Amino acid sequence: MEKEARRMTAYQICLLPGDGIGPEIIAEGVKVLDAVGAKAGVAFSYTTAAIGGCAIDECGEALPAATLEVAKASDAVLLAAVGGPKWDTTDPDKPRPEQGLLGIRKGLELYTNLRPVTVFDALSSASTLKPEVIDGVDLMMVRELTGGLYFGARERFYDEAGAGVGGAAGQRAYDTLEYREYEIDRIARQAFEVARKRRGKVTSVDKANVLESSRLWREVVHRVHDADYPDVELEDILVDNCAMQLITRPADFDVLVTENMFGDILSDEAAQLTGSLGMLASASLGDSTALYEPSHGSAPDIAGKGIANPLAQILSVEMMLRYSFNLQQGADDIRRAVTEVLDEGWRTGDIADASTPEDRVVGTARMGDLVVEHL
Ligand code: IPM
Ligand code: MG
Repeated sequence: MEKEARRMTAYQICLLPGDGIGPEIIAEGVKVLDAVGAKAGVAFSYTTAAIGGCAIDECGEALPAATLEVAKASDAVLLAAVGGPKWDTTDPDKPRPEQGLLGIRKGLELYTNLRPVTVFDALSSASTLKPEVIDGVDLMMVRELTGGLYFGARERFYDEAGAGVGGAAGQRAYDTLEYREYEIDRIARQAFEVARKRRGKVTSVDKANVLESSRLWREVVHRVHDADYPDVELEDILVDNCAMQLITRPADFDVLVTENMFGDILSDEAAQLTGSLGMLASASLGDSTALYEPSHGSAPDIAGKGIANPLAQILSVEMMLRYSFNLQQGADDIRRAVTEVLDEGWRTGDIADASTPEDRVVGTARMGDLVVEHL
């Protein structure tokens, strides 16, 4: 018996609370993870490290080397949020909290970003779109996360030859959108694999009528499709048209796959379909590890008040169980628990409305407790 207990599976999790509401919501994620672990006979142990603005304050950089080391040595990374007005700057020489996020994505080679968008029935009235448009929305944004404009060559420089206003000397700046075949190949495969486990349809988003990188994107996506995933339905859509279709017929989409910058923009648009950004989780997967985080930011305006919505963080734990540890039962339990809590009418401030009774509006920790009680 004792030997059995010692052989219990143990996973090492790197916790990155970050800034703003980060520390408050990550505590609820850990609470839920521990509860699921206890039930499943899995032990999670944690190492907390600094990232973002707090890391800048502590060590002068958004991603200290020690943090990347801890993350690399862990089985999975749970991140809350980074950033805040305190560190906002356009000075290229000053560190920014977001560099922590970009650095860890690149440092861990997390090239696949999954952002599921689903509507919880209890919250369907939160959307700004008509109920008949929102009905049945269940899509997965697959965003390439380590290439394109985010990581291409860039420069800002002074040009004597008339870059300024009225022919005067002035500044110039550029960013580069570059993709290599293998980068498109591997993200396309991820999208097709995800689609096979869903409704079997991939929409590839590009700007092939203008951009060379998009023409390569389209060619490679089709090559991968025709060779290895002919069973999956594939369609191409131009990014501007996609932005429009996402709000006119969102329920028609299953899996969308796109390059980094388009994915950044479209995933915020897709997230807003639900009307409750505080509910959406994301997973960033590499070949050797993965990072899970809410889709929302650090909400500095409500930091420290104990009122932030921890559900996106908790749902990012659901994704961790699914994608990193294949603990499908634990993941299903979390989803069911969250659904029940919402069906019973419990709300944090951001997802409450005029019809919510006052005694059903709860704070961060209570919301976490409610989910644990329903597990
Ligand atoms: C996101 C965020 C980040 C991004 C920022 C904070 C750097 O907007 O995860 O979508 O642009 O990727
Ligand atoms: Mg974004």
